[in-house]
Amino acid sequence: MSGGTGKKGKKKGTVMMIKHGEWAFETAEKIKEKMKTVAGRNRHKIPYTTENGVYDDWTEKNICWWTNGFWGGMMWQLYRTAGYELYKEIAVETEEKLDRNLLDHAGMDHDSGFKWLPTSGARYLLEKNPESYNRMLLAADNLAGRFNPEGNFIKAWNDGGTGEKAGWAIIDCMMNLPLLYKASEFTRDPRYKIIAMKHADTVLKHFAREDGSVKHIVEFNPATGEYMRSYGGQGYKRGSAWTRGQAWAIYGFFLSFLHTGEKKYLEQSIKTADYFIDHIPRSGGIPVDFMQPETCSWEDSTAAVIAACGLIEIGKALSEERGKKYEEAAEKLLRFIAENRCNWDSSIDNLVERCTAAYHDEEHEFSIIYGDYFFIEGIWKLTGQELFIW
Ligand code: GLY
Repeated sequence: MSGGTGKKGKKKGTVMMIKHGEWAFETAEKIKEKMKTVAGRNRHKIPYTTENGVYDDWTEKNICWWTNGFWGGMMWQLYRTAGYELYKEIAVETEEKLDRNLLDHAGMDHDSGFKWLPTSGARYLLEKNPESYNRMLLAADNLAGRFNPEGNFIKAWNDGGTGEKAGWAIIDCMMNLPLLYKASEFTRDPRYKIIAMKHADTVLKHFAREDGSVKHIVEFNPATGEYMRSYGGQGYKRGSAWTRGQAWAIYGFFLSFLHTGEKKYLEQSIKTADYFIDHIPRSGGIPVDFMQPETCSWEDSTAAVIAACGLIEIGKALSEERGKKYEEAAEKLLRFIAENRCNWDSSIDNLVERCTAAYHDEEHEFSIIYGDYFFIEGIWKLTGQELFIW
């Protein structure tokens, strides 16, 4: 199992341990304590959010929902460090349930990395089992099949066969590319990696802005590859800076650097990280969009924890002197969440609160499963317990 990159004398493939305050270790223990009971009473679910403090279940609601891998991922992170068999059983059950998605072509979109890296990918790291390997390659083949060679982008969402979204690419997809990098490693076939890098290069060219921020959605002409327009997507408006999108870019570009060694991806990850850090409000809570009106107080804690995970990785990849800024910013973000945006009551299922899916949705500031997943991943990074799944 791997702890991400390894500057400062640590190679890829080692567990990374960086010096952090006691609070991180105490938080890790609190997570383990709470999750023991939470996992037990939710064992047959695949949660997305909570209703009155109780995790909901997407097994029948929509097995193809993009977040369905995170519950399994949480279980593997917990299993890896707590060794409690129930966690493994839940993770395997989730992975097996996702086979219905693998067989549903209309339910396969660009989110295959989010679904199968925390489930099959995590299990394969630990067990080298053929079933998980098979699932990863099926998912990778489908993801690679979404590549448009005219615009050099991976089509994000489906559109029910209308073609309306045939030219849409989104920043989130940067986090799905590791599935392709891994598929090339597994098969020694470079095509998956070539597709991933071509997509990443398109994102560098058409999503990244001069100030370091990134767009959420870009539309290309799917027949000619011509750049058409951008959309504000889940952020405030066109031209704004949706915070979770910034976080996906920080971590996602870093991962392309990790898998390819290409410095241009690290540079973009750092540029977006600098933008993110410069825009963190004094309060410490991360807004839904860095450009939302000052009168709007909506937060998205998922952006905080995802960005923190990316910042820690950047910090580890740089020299100690240069990396300090990113590690300190990450620790501050995670500590703020642990102390101000977590629910530690064991009768409540979720950990992280005040998460927001999209600025223009009707509901804001609730619990979202990937907030819990990346919070655990971030705390595990700080305390040297992470199973590095990306
Ligand atoms: N990947 C979808 C989202 O971040 O909401």
